[in-house]
Amino acid sequence: MTPEIAEAVRLLKGGELVGIPTETVYGLGADAANPAAVAKIFAAKGRPADHPLIVHIPGAAHLAHWAREIPDCAWELAEAFWPGPLTLILKRAPGVPDAVTGGQDTVGLRVPGHPVALDLLRAFAAAGGSGGIAAPSANRFGRISPTTAAHVREELGDAVPLVLDGGACAVGIESTILDLSSGVPVLLRPGHISPTAIEAICGVAPQAPAGGAPRASGTLEAHYAPQTPMRMVDSARLLDFLSGMRHGGSCCGVLCHSQLPQSETTEMQPHTWKMLPADPVGYAHALYAALRDLDHAGTELIVVEAIPEGPQWAAVADRLRRAVTGAGG
Ligand code: TXA
Ligand code: MG
Repeated sequence: MTPEIAEAVRLLKGGELVGIPTETVYGLGADAANPAAVAKIFAAKGRPADHPLIVHIPGAAHLAHWAREIPDCAWELAEAFWPGPLTLILKRAPGVPDAVTGGQDTVGLRVPGHPVALDLLRAFAAAGGSGGIAAPSANRFGRISPTTAAHVREELGDAVPLVLDGGACAVGIESTILDLSSGVPVLLRPGHISPTAIEAICGVAPQAPAGGAPRASGTLEAHYAPQTPMRMVDSARLLDFLSGMRHGGSCCGVLCHSQLPQSETTEMQPHTWKMLPADPVGYAHALYAALRDLDHAGTELIVVEAIPEGPQWAAVADRLRRAVTGAGG
């Protein structure tokens, strides 16, 4: 065990918070069995207390400690995708604190696919901890999720005594959330694990959530948002739009993925450009860091080149739509 992991275990057992790298985004972790520790997460993030947290566990063998009435397809999905970017919502076991579930009868569980997170979870369980680390994304409520240790420091500063550095997150957007608590699988949040991949294991395609009160903060319409206003512009109109902004005396941040030869022209240079990969996996990996940089660039508007339609882009489209809705707020 590295000294950092030992220190993290000591802090968690003492009811403190630890910043944790995962393959999706960085999490802000606390002992899931300690309501006072979990309360510190809500205070640090400025998050409403009725928003449930995901409990991270070292392996599927721990599922039955946190959940009850676990359907076969949960075990099959765990076998297929854990460790990995899939969160399962299951009926909660007796004894799971209300602080974690937001008082709901369900609990979100996931085995993260990052070596540092797994080392920590295993060491925490071996040291007599609950084996569960409750961790939301380590950003302030409604803001851009962190994908590096430095982002966590920037978001939360001294509110976290230790941030484990596991480098840049490979996936870059939050896990897919699948609700298995009601008999039919319901996709609460799209992510790297696609509906098609889930259907291949479960035999049924996940349904869209019914309307009603949002149960997941990641499902609020305004989320993942920079402070700078944002707008989406179609590829075909992008250069005209930016040139109009120039003539009006405005500099924009531009998030694009197409090769735009004219972006080299002097007229386009005053804008701050971020070029992302044109494939959805590469785009997701780089998205939050790029948005964060553009938010710091001090422009009055972030212009996002509209991304392609299609199921492969669904998770990125979801994050961009919510960011545009929440931006500037
Ligand atoms: O990739 C991820 O899932 C990251 C890393 C750190 O694991 N975590 C993450 O946590 O995104 P957070 O709290 O930012 O988003 C988790 C979402 C929230 O929208 C929360 O409301 C939802 O999961 N959630 C947790 N438990 C739930 C439950 N019992 N029912 C419905 N939604 C739940
Ligand atoms: Mg979050």
